[in-house]
This record gives sequence, C-alpha cells and structure tokens, in this order.
Amino acid sequence: MPRLSSRIDRLPPYLLASIPARKRELLARGVDVIDLGAGDADLAPPEEAVEALARASREPSLQRYGFGLGHVPFREAVSAWMERRFGLAFDPMREVVPLIGSKEGIAHLALAYLEPGDVAVVPEPGYIVYQGGTVLAGAEPHLYPLRPRTRFLVELDEIPEDVLRRTRLLYLNYPNNPTAAVAPRDYLANVVRQCRERDILLVFDNAYSELAFDGYRPPSIFEIDGAREVAVEFHSLSKSYNMTGWRCGWAVADPAIASRLAQVKTFIDTGHYMAVQAAGAAALGAWERFVPANVAVFQERRDAAVAAFRAAGFDVEVPQATMYLWIPLPEGVASAEFAERLLADEGVVVLPGSGFGAGGEGFFRISFIVEPARLAEAARRAGRALEALRAAV
Ligand SMILES: Cc1ncc(COP(=O)(O)O)c(C=O)c1O
Repeated sequence: MPRLSSRIDRLPPYLLASIPARKRELLARGVDVIDLGAGDADLAPPEEAVEALARASREPSLQRYGFGLGHVPFREAVSAWMERRFGLAFDPMREVVPLIGSKEGIAHLALAYLEPGDVAVVPEPGYIVYQGGTVLAGAEPHLYPLRPRTRFLVELDEIPEDVLRRTRLLYLNYPNNPTAAVAPRDYLANVVRQCRERDILLVFDNAYSELAFDGYRPPSIFEIDGAREVAVEFHSLSKSYNMTGWRCGWAVADPAIASRLAQVKTFIDTGHYMAVQAAGAAALGAWERFVPANVAVFQERRDAAVAAFRAAGFDVEVPQATMYLWIPLPEGVASAEFAERLLADEGVVVLPGSGFGAGGEGFFRISFIVEPARLAEAARRAGRALEALRAAV
C-alpha cells in the first residue's frame, strides 16, 4: 500500500461525513427522520439568483475558465454590498477574493501563512475546517475550549506564552457556530490590538453576519480600528440566501493578504463557475428585498425551537444570531450517547457537542432549519430520548 502522509492521521474526524448514509438507512426502513444536523435550511434561494444562473448558463463567455479573476460583476457586487452593509470600502479587484464557498478559502488560507512549527489558535467547539486547514498545512492547532465561563469567547491572555510566541493565525467566528455566541465590539477591539502586537493573522469567519435577530446587527471585523493590517474576513452566500449547494463566498482583506490567498488558489482551482458568480451578484443585489424576510422565517423557527425544547425539559438560551441552539445536557449524560440514542430510537439528527471536539462535551447542537411543527416534534422525541437515557443510569 502506498504510504500516507502524517498529515492525514492528524486530521480530526469529520462529524457530518457519516450522517447522510445513516439517514438513508433509516429512511429506507421507513423511519420518519427529522434532520436538525447540518446548517442547511429547507428554504429556497432568491428568485433573482435562480434567474441569473439560468441566463448566465446560456451565455457562452461565462462557460469558460473563470481563473482567479472570475466574473468581475461579482467582485463589484461584493464591494458594493460591503459598503451598503458595513459602510466599508474594498477595492473589487485587489481586496476581494471570490471563493468556491467560504470553506474553500478558509482551508486554503492556512497554506499561505502556516508551516511546521507554527501554531494556529482554534476555538473548540468550532467549525472543523480551522483545524483541518491547519493540519493540512503541517502546522499545529492549539485548541481553545469555548465554554460558558468566557461567554464562548477566545481569551488570548489565557494561552501560554510559549504557544502565543509561535502563533501565526487566530480563527474567530462570531456569530458563532455551534454555540450561537456573539462578540461584543470591545472584545473585538481588544483582539485586534493583541493580534497587531503579536503579528498574528486574525481570520474572521463572518458566515452568519446576516442571520441575526431582535435588531442585532453583527459587525465586520473591519469596523474595528487597525483591523485592516492584521485581518481577513470570510463571507458566504450559503446561510443568508439558502444557497449552501451553490458554493459561493468571498474573502475581503488588504491587498497584501488577499493576494496571498489568491496566489495559493492559483495552484489549486481554476476559478469558480462564472454563472454561479453571476447568480451571487444577483443575490447580493437582492439583499434588501430577500434577507430580512428570510431572517424573519429563521426568527420564527428560533422561537419555536426554543419554546419546544424548553417544554421538553431542556435548558435553552435564546440566541441572538445563527441558525443553532447549543443546548446543555444534564451532568453525566454524554453528548455522543444522547445523539446516537436520539437518532437510533427516535430518528432525529442532532450533533453531539463532543463531535466538535472535547471542548464541546456536555452540549448538543440543533439547527432550526425546518418548520415549527417539525421542530416541536423533534423536541418531544429529544425529551423522550433523554428520559430513556436517565432511566437507564
Ligand atoms: C462557521 C462557518 N464558517 C464557514 C462555513 C462554510 O460555509 P460555505 O458554505 O460558504 O463554505 C460554515 C458552514 O457551515 C460555517 O458554519
């Protein structure tokens, strides 16, 4: 057998990878499965995007290689949206990097900034790609446990000095997957200051910037003074526009940083299908019409999920953003056992906290991505599964 690289052995398990097969198996047995696993809603993308894709798919010039430049109107739409949404100016040609989904860029960025011996600070629980990208770049993830004690914020002061000295990258994601935590502005200002002092690249994953409730408006990291020198921010159409499968996102950063991500990509992909970029531009153009109504649907689902899981005996906080509830389990109930029981006995997919790393133990995540009635049914089943587990102790 050909020898594998040591990187492969160091990759963490990918929680969502095994779920589709388990789900198919249950469906084939006639089980009424409710899937609250992935952050992937059952809602439709904007009509503007669908029509733009249809048109663009017939346009011969858009069927060719996009290369790194891609479809210039997409870059321009990103730049215009960053201005409308955050009041920030980004040069569409030098400060925007079109991505095949933000995951792709987040993973590849590590190749530009990390090498063996370097450390990346990775929040745990967190989006597993931070760890994956770090390991694939041959560097060392330093896992920082996100716990209620710090309001699920990464406190750099708590990281040992010898680790910080080797730290090149810090991944932050607020609004946060999976904890649904949000970051106060003074916290972000402090992190930017620390990254500047220590020459750490701040990778700010803003995939949930638009999914916020009750009037809360998540900031861009670039609203913080001094961030342009040390930060790169990732955005995605996936969650705000129900376009997960379309694979469309972008990074914004100072040209010195953006050009390095673009350089890595030059050797890995040949650009993104330009018709999808045309659709992405249309989606961004429809932001004012589409996103508030879409967020209202999520807010209704959030309220339904909170009420239903509380009624089923769970201790649930009301999240200000994201499409997740991060729900604590009673002392002594292992999250993997609970999630397995709930799937096997009740046909409900949730994600165990421990699947996001040891720091996530004691919690499970649900995505409020289905209709309120289904959320209520899922919560009832979750309550039964918890009762059964407790009875067995
Ligand atoms: C925190 C976070 N960042 C990035 C992504 C990736 O989104 P995309 O579909 O743009 O690759 C996700 C998707 O679940 C996510 O939860």
